[in-house]
Amino acid sequence: MYCFNLLFAGCFCCAMETGVRIYNVEPLMEKGHLVLVWDDARDSREAKDKLVLEFTFTKPVLAVRMRHDKIIIVLKNRIYVYSFPDNPVKLFEFDTRDNPKGLCDLCPSLEKQLLVFPGHKCGSLQLVDLSNTKPGTSSAPFTINAHQSEIACVALNQPGSVAASASRKGTLIRLFDTTTRDKLVELRRGTDPATLYCINFSHDSSFLCASSDKGTVHIFALKDTKLNRRSALARVGKVGPVIGQYVDSQWSLASFTVPAECACICAFGKNTSKNVNSVIAICVDGTFHKYVFTPDGNCNREAFDVYLDICDDDDF
Ligand SMILES: *[C@@H]1O[C@H](CO)[C@@H](O)[C@H](O)[C@H]1NC(C)=O
Ligand SMILES: *[C@@H]1O[C@H](CO)[C@@H](O)[C@H](O)[C@H]1NC(C)=O
Repeated sequence: MYCFNLLFAGCFCCAMETGVRIYNVEPLMEKGHLVLVWDDARDSREAKDKLVLEFTFTKPVLAVRMRHDKIIIVLKNRIYVYSFPDNPVKLFEFDTRDNPKGLCDLCPSLEKQLLVFPGHKCGSLQLVDLSNTKPGTSSAPFTINAHQSEIACVALNQPGSVAASASRKGTLIRLFDTTTRDKLVELRRGTDPATLYCINFSHDSSFLCASSDKGTVHIFALKDTKLNRRSALARVGKVGPVIGQYVDSQWSLASFTVPAECACICAFGKNTSKNVNSVIAICVDGTFHKYVFTPDGNCNREAFDVYLDICDDDDF
């Protein structure tokens, strides 16, 4: 056990290697599989006053995704979509292929409410536009045959116009136009198989970062890719039409290393005038890494810390 904590009247939780368990005190029993949502802005020091929502499931919850008006809960074979945050109502549920990693992404865009998760066929992606789907109806599934082997990682860009995915092999990341299903570009992480942990787009879809068990975080430039004319990336990135067909896979612009085998997530830092083009990696060994990169591929460490050492005990 790593840590435990009293949550609110009659409940406590403990974080184990296998996940977080929540118990009832009287009678002492495990409380099933919960998703709890807190509002930290509420003016109280008591955790129970900040708890705003509670969802209970009979099977383990593998992932949770949120946008301003919806919450998505991912189980091994099913995905639930609820309205959010006032009086949540279940809007949809989708049966999925075995999805032990809880793969799923949801775009935050106001115009599009795209949800992507592994399709029924091995290596495929299923896309659902929640704004075009009526609760209770089963519309024809929109799928992309992305890979030959199982999907290992999936991400959408902010407007939901591009989906990126990698398979268990982990050598390539493929980008697809979510409207036409066309493959836009293929990014090469490496030639040896690897387990990809995370893929993220930059806010403006100009770059993509990916982390793997090789202990590397790769940064790819998307603006200069030889995309098909009128591609989704060209529309988003506001670059002019790029003539030329997709030929080869494209190597990364830059990369940096974190402890190998140590799972980490990576994302682009907030882009401000003082902080341009940064990537942050957070590893399970408690280390935090921040690198800045230039469009011509220079990449330098700007910060390193052990975030577990700077935790404030009162914050839980
Ligand atoms: C980056 O990707 C990870 C996992 O793929 C996800 O949990 C996280 O929310 C993403 N971060 C951003 C800023 O998109
Ligand atoms: C940061 O902003 C610059 C200037 O607007 C832009 O060219 C670049 O693509 C942005 N980078 C990221 C990571 O969002």
